[in-house]
Amino acid sequence: MKLFLLCFLILIPAFLASEVWDSFKKTYNKSYATLGEENFRKQIFLERLKIIEEQNHKFERGLSSFSVTINQFADLTKEELFKTKPDGSQGGKVGSSARPSRPREDVPDSIDWRDYGVITPVVDQMFCESCWAFAVVGTVEAHVGIYRQEDVRLSQQNLVDCVDINFDCDQYLDIQMVDKTYQYITDNNGIDTVESYPYESYNVGPCRFSSETIGAKIAGYVNVTEGDEEELKTVVGTIGPVTVVITTDMMWGAYQNGVYYNEDCMNTTEIFNHVVVVVGYGNENGEDFWLVKNSWGTWFGQEGYIKMARNRDNNCGIASIARYPIM
Ligand SMILES: *[C@@H]1O[C@H](CO)[C@@H](O)[C@H](O)[C@H]1NC(C)=O
Ligand SMILES: *[C@@H]1O[C@H](CO)[C@@H](O)[C@H](O)[C@H]1NC(C)=O
Ligand SMILES: *[C@@H]1O[C@H](CO)[C@@H](O)[C@H](O)[C@H]1NC(C)=O
Repeated sequence: MKLFLLCFLILIPAFLASEVWDSFKKTYNKSYATLGEENFRKQIFLERLKIIEEQNHKFERGLSSFSVTINQFADLTKEELFKTKPDGSQGGKVGSSARPSRPREDVPDSIDWRDYGVITPVVDQMFCESCWAFAVVGTVEAHVGIYRQEDVRLSQQNLVDCVDINFDCDQYLDIQMVDKTYQYITDNNGIDTVESYPYESYNVGPCRFSSETIGAKIAGYVNVTEGDEEELKTVVGTIGPVTVVITTDMMWGAYQNGVYYNEDCMNTTEIFNHVVVVVGYGNENGEDFWLVKNSWGTWFGQEGYIKMARNRDNNCGIASIARYPIM
């Protein structure tokens, strides 16, 4: 399916476009309530195909470091996929409190924490803007693996329900959610296991935390110095994965392979719209990258992961709001 789309679509005649559309619907089990809805989705899909083709041609000619693909998000508008904030709202200056860890000589040139068996499987946040809960859970699970040698799965729903009673699944990302979440787990003296408190996808319920079913505790959390990719490398290389807040767009959502870099991707916190986990870094074909775990299931990117540009002026703000737990 993917190959067919990528190889043949650029000059696709109208009758074939319908075949590709049907094939897309079939692959991703898409169905639409009305014909109007379907036509609307098809239009988005066909426009996305064109953009994807253009990007992949740039990639093939060596003019870009990454390729993109059709995935299950190809019929969504940018607004549906990423809730970006209205201009100038919220935002806020992000402070920092650097805590240099170990001497930099110890920092490896590359690391992939998956090789240490401490990265839990990629999960799917589905249609709730709960990326922050998934990213913090993914980070804490990894640190529990590294420092306690335990394989735990923690409850995103515990966070969705309890961190901020005003949270709802449709809201714009509040960039303070990550700080609030780490603070919550610290003050609450733990977070429940996912078995005891499973994810409910779109529902925000009353807080049902139970101290009987705690999966992990943390002693606090640390802020990496804002925008300092070198310090982020030191932390990821010597301590463990880090939760980061970033800017994403449609091209990011369609990522397939290579090192994602977007010259339009800003590092100003006002437009941040997603939270993910940095689980490693390295260099691929001369491009430094951060290895990033997303929470859109394994259909996204490379089995759920994306490589994002490193040492390119903090592209997409990856080192702007970076936090990790103290175990
Ligand atoms: C579509 O549905 C089939 C059968 O229910 C399932 O096997 C397949 O994994 C689904 N595909 C996606 C993308 O959800
Ligand atoms: C991290 O930075 C945020 C934003 O400035 C601040 O509110 C928070 O208290 C800091 N957290 C720590 C642990 O330093
Ligand atoms: C933001 O990006 C600009 C240019 O892309 C860079 O000069 C600046 O240092 C970055 N700021 C931070 C805080 O990362």
